[in-house]
Amino acid sequence: MGNLRILLVALVSLVALNQDLVHANFYTDTVFTWGSQNSAIWGNGNNLALMLDKVSGSGIQTSREFLFGSIEMQIKLVPGNSAGTVTAYYMSSTGSKHDEIDFEFLGNLSGQPYIIHTNVFTQGVGNREQQFYPWFDPTSDFHSYTIHWNPSQIVWFVDGLPIRVYRNYERYGIPFPNKQAMRAYSSLWNADDWATRGGLIKIDWSNAPFIARYRQLRLRACAWTGPNSISQCAQTTPANWWTSPVYSELNDMQKGQLNWVRQNFMIYDYCKDTKRFNGQFHPECSLLQF
Ligand SMILES: *[C@@H]1O[C@H](CO)[C@@H](O)[C@H](O)[C@H]1NC(C)=O
Repeated sequence: MGNLRILLVALVSLVALNQDLVHANFYTDTVFTWGSQNSAIWGNGNNLALMLDKVSGSGIQTSREFLFGSIEMQIKLVPGNSAGTVTAYYMSSTGSKHDEIDFEFLGNLSGQPYIIHTNVFTQGVGNREQQFYPWFDPTSDFHSYTIHWNPSQIVWFVDGLPIRVYRNYERYGIPFPNKQAMRAYSSLWNADDWATRGGLIKIDWSNAPFIARYRQLRLRACAWTGPNSISQCAQTTPANWWTSPVYSELNDMQKGQLNWVRQNFMIYDYCKDTKRFNGQFHPECSLLQF
């Protein structure tokens, strides 16, 4: 009887999670943070376009806050000459000691590769960049970008392939984003002071408006209901699927995929930039990365 009840509770919460957020909707589950005049939502809320012109960019955030789970969307990046534009897609809490998990897509001249830029902030401290070239043209079709995080690790996925892991090394005194509620955000903006080759290449406004397209927003994550969520979202239960041991570490196949990405497409790693850190690397750099 007890087991049956646990199972029922788990099923009911799974169903609740499903209906609310799995097939999330840009109308009901996100709000504009700026530039709503430069955006469009259609197809019953399944499709979103963000636009950047000389006057403004635009951006959205999820209405709800989360702690752990998986946030996914398919994005088709600004095509053609997108140099100087940045499409950002990230999770963030608020305040000066905020946590943040980033994907940023740095545009480029026609035919030149985008850069997939990643970073993680814990307790307000970032400087943990890793950058990759995509192994496909991210502007010719939609590709899925997923931020998965649980009490053991954060994983950045592109089309289901892990490209980066940030492990929980709190036991060595390294902060991990596991106590602050985060929203998911996406925005398209002008970053031509730094984005393309360090700001050398400016936006060519004759190509405006620049448009990034989104679909299939999936928020399979623990909805934050207050400070009690810190323990509730981390509890190992069937409904908290992200706490299952299979997600606490990449499996062997995923480690192979991540190695393939690192060996062939990684162009920057903060753990290898001796010049910048002058030998004072972040402590996680000397520990197992994934
Ligand atoms: C743009 O293309 C150039 C030349 O291939 C490359 O060096 C650079 O990393 C690319 N990406 C950005 C964002 O500058």
